[in-house]
Amino acid sequence: MCGIVGYVGSKNAQSILLEGLHRLEYRGYDSAGIVTFQDGDACLLRVKGKVAGLDSLVNDSHRDDSIGIGHTRWATHGEPSERNAHPHNVGDIFLVHNGIIENYKDLKSVLETRGYSFVSETDTEVLTALVDSIYQQDKNLFAAVSEALHMVVGAYGIAVVAKDNMDEVVVARSGSPLVIGVGEGETFIASDPSALVGNTNQVIFLKDGEVAKCTRDGVTVKDSADQAVEPIVETIEMDIQAMQKKGFDHFLVKEIFDQPESLSATLAGRVVKDQDLLRLGGLNMSEEELRAVKHIFIVACGTASYASMMASYYIERFADDVVIDTVVASELRYRSFNVPENSLAIFVSQSGETADTIACLKEMKQRGVRCLGVVNAVGSTIAREVDGGIYIHAGAEISVASTKGFTSQVVALVLFGLVMAQAKGMSIEDVRPYIDELDALPEEIAAVLDTKNEEVKQLAADYSQYEHAFYIGRDILYPLALEGALKLKETSYIHVEGQPAGELKHGSIALIDDRFFEVAFVMDNELFEKSMSNIIEVQARGGHVIVVTNSSREIEAERVVRIESRLKMFTPLLFNVVSQLFAYYVAVNRGNDVDQPRNLAKSVTVE
Ligand code: AGP
Repeated sequence: MCGIVGYVGSKNAQSILLEGLHRLEYRGYDSAGIVTFQDGDACLLRVKGKVAGLDSLVNDSHRDDSIGIGHTRWATHGEPSERNAHPHNVGDIFLVHNGIIENYKDLKSVLETRGYSFVSETDTEVLTALVDSIYQQDKNLFAAVSEALHMVVGAYGIAVVAKDNMDEVVVARSGSPLVIGVGEGETFIASDPSALVGNTNQVIFLKDGEVAKCTRDGVTVKDSADQAVEPIVETIEMDIQAMQKKGFDHFLVKEIFDQPESLSATLAGRVVKDQDLLRLGGLNMSEEELRAVKHIFIVACGTASYASMMASYYIERFADDVVIDTVVASELRYRSFNVPENSLAIFVSQSGETADTIACLKEMKQRGVRCLGVVNAVGSTIAREVDGGIYIHAGAEISVASTKGFTSQVVALVLFGLVMAQAKGMSIEDVRPYIDELDALPEEIAAVLDTKNEEVKQLAADYSQYEHAFYIGRDILYPLALEGALKLKETSYIHVEGQPAGELKHGSIALIDDRFFEVAFVMDNELFEKSMSNIIEVQARGGHVIVVTNSSREIEAERVVRIESRLKMFTPLLFNVVSQLFAYYVAVNRGNDVDQPRNLAKSVTVE
């Protein structure tokens, strides 16, 4: 996903654009650029690499322009380079784009017959030329962008300016997020509200198919049928604190340590221990509708899919008349699947903008399935498209690797499961242990952070040089192993596989030798002995096993990290804190860009 910013007003556009790009850099960061204008003269600055590379170029340019657009890129077409960086310029038109133009090759052929030539490998440059080819007819930018987009197939969030028009930035979206910030005598554009913080909290969330003309005097919007649309201006509460590192070295470790607070925010008003009360306000489902649910699809990607899988193990324990399918969105969207009667679809997404997840949401809506969202980003596409849902209120998650989002997603889904089970007759006696443990969970996570941080930091130092690892767990610890493996691989670039502990003997154990270390999650429960058998199998083949457990029993392993907690059911979420810290410290030891790992973006808004 890329970051888009725009400005038209009376202040210095370069500084506003640059600040916005720094805020959005977590979305994609292989190249960046801005263009500003004064009296028809364009100042285009682009770099390969991070936004910081623009800072010096801006300082040296000494411009005081008051209109412009900017972009930070996660490459889809064309390798990261200055030539492929946005903004792209063809003729009078400068354009930035988040998304994919699927028919760009056909458009390119037509434009070449009209005399256009291209210098980059991007689909965006073709779109820029298409807009210019129409703009040259009557110099109406608003109309030219609308007409061009009628010819486009694909997903886009774009901002467009013309160098001979110093008064308007035209924006449009279809499938990629775009928000407009309304100020006094100025208008801001961004691909997500976090870039607007400090400038305005009055925001218009553009809808798919809409095109908007942004000027110093306001915003004019029309829909895909070119009909005028009255824009809805909403007030958003963005927590600038949540976006700052608060003294931590990286957002990743800050967000790991945020979890007692972010989880408390997820639970606030929803778990009321002294009243034995659970309540979820935004489901928009009656008791009867909850009672009728027989099949749940939980649809997500990456970490959100592992949170979904973990939550499904909990829900199946207390909602035994419900079948739960946790499915990866990129698979579901092309699978021919049946939707049984009385199905419910839940879409889990931290950003609320993941393209694969959104595609499944649209498919389920078309099939008439009731859709709920479990989302962090307020006002995001998924949050706006579902019939109801649960905001996890975890606060802005900046680091590309999701940590506090995972924990709050699991808990939010479990809360839904409990509310649904209560509607189905689950007694308060059976619910109360969950209420007690959920109420205690933030404090227990804080205790793990306090007591295990240094131990895990040392552990990471001892294992940072390995290039291969397995994460294993049984039952509810299997999705934890998957999440732990993802956290380590995406931050440290170590090759890590998550496996069901009982599965190793069916083939993967052939891999184990001195090159590998293994992290084995072991609960002090009826699966303890079975888990220990798996560990012994691994060690017998030269494995270097690190056990993470809440058991005080004797354990033969290379290293043992013991978690002491009064919790019984939610100890996996305490193990997960150890796993997060371990991934963080290994990545730091390996000198990686912890918050913006190579090849990744915070939210993947393209297929
Ligand atoms: C999380 O650590 C990953 N960076 C990634 O798997 C992420 O969870 C996935 O892209 C889904 O994002 P979403 O929750 O915003 O939909």
